Amino acid sequence: MNSDARPRGILDLVAMKAAGRRIVMLTCYDAAFARLLDHTATDVLLVGDSLNQVLAGHETTLSATLEQMIYHAASVRRGAPRGLIFVDLPFLTYQVSIPEAIRNAGRVLQESGANGVKLEGGQPMADTVRALVERGIPVMGHLGLTPQSVHALGGYRVQGREAGAGERLLADARALESAGACAIVLELLPSALAEQISTSLTIPTIGIGAGPGCDGQVLVLHDMLGLNEAFKPKFLKLYARLGESVRSAVESFAEEVRGRAYPGKDHGFD
Ligand code: KIV
Repeated sequence: MNSDARPRGILDLVAMKAAGRRIVMLTCYDAAFARLLDHTATDVLLVGDSLNQVLAGHETTLSATLEQMIYHAASVRRGAPRGLIFVDLPFLTYQVSIPEAIRNAGRVLQESGANGVKLEGGQPMADTVRALVERGIPVMGHLGLTPQSVHALGGYRVQGREAGAGERLLADARALESAGACAIVLELLPSALAEQISTSLTIPTIGIGAGPGCDGQVLVLHDMLGLNEAFKPKFLKLYARLGESVRSAVESFAEEVRGRAYPGKDHGFD
């Protein structure tokens, strides 16, 4: 991979870390945004199960289904034919047994054309990660605030602050690396801990609310574009205010329709 090329495969992610090049990841749920992102410097598109909240309006990610994830991932693949795409395995599609995890992760790759899957959890998931990787299914891990465990964690809040939690998370990260994970998302962790984990691994970490010491960063696209206006966590930076643009465009349309300014002669057919 040359210095400004985007990664085409999972091996490029580890090479990027070794070269000190930060990984840019964004969520993407549909072909329209995938087409736009495909012409940007985004390295990885993540079909996150956050779509269950962002698109479907649910409180948590827990009710996302495998079929929904495959549908959205296939749409993203059609919009970004050469993109590096990872897909969240939804709740209960990989925790019950290793054979089920292999079947479900395999379906995601086979039916959507994505490059790999992401799953949540550390040491208890290591055997599952190893089984997937040994069968040719690339896996990205996810530690810290793992949204599928929101009820067990007592809400969406920063993890890793209580005594012993740092050591446990570091052991989780090492277990995922040994099992063959190609990268690990670190969500809502103290910056110093995320940096310590990042420097302890050869595979890249991709942070969200985990400070500047990770090897890459991910945000939910709708959040950073200002399309999810009620969501204002401390870590989020708005790179656009598209919610305002949408409202203003729709108000202009309504005004012109009611004022008979649109459609005009130019918008009709002879
Ligand atoms: O589901 C998702 O979008 C995610 C990111 C927040 C990392 O897991």
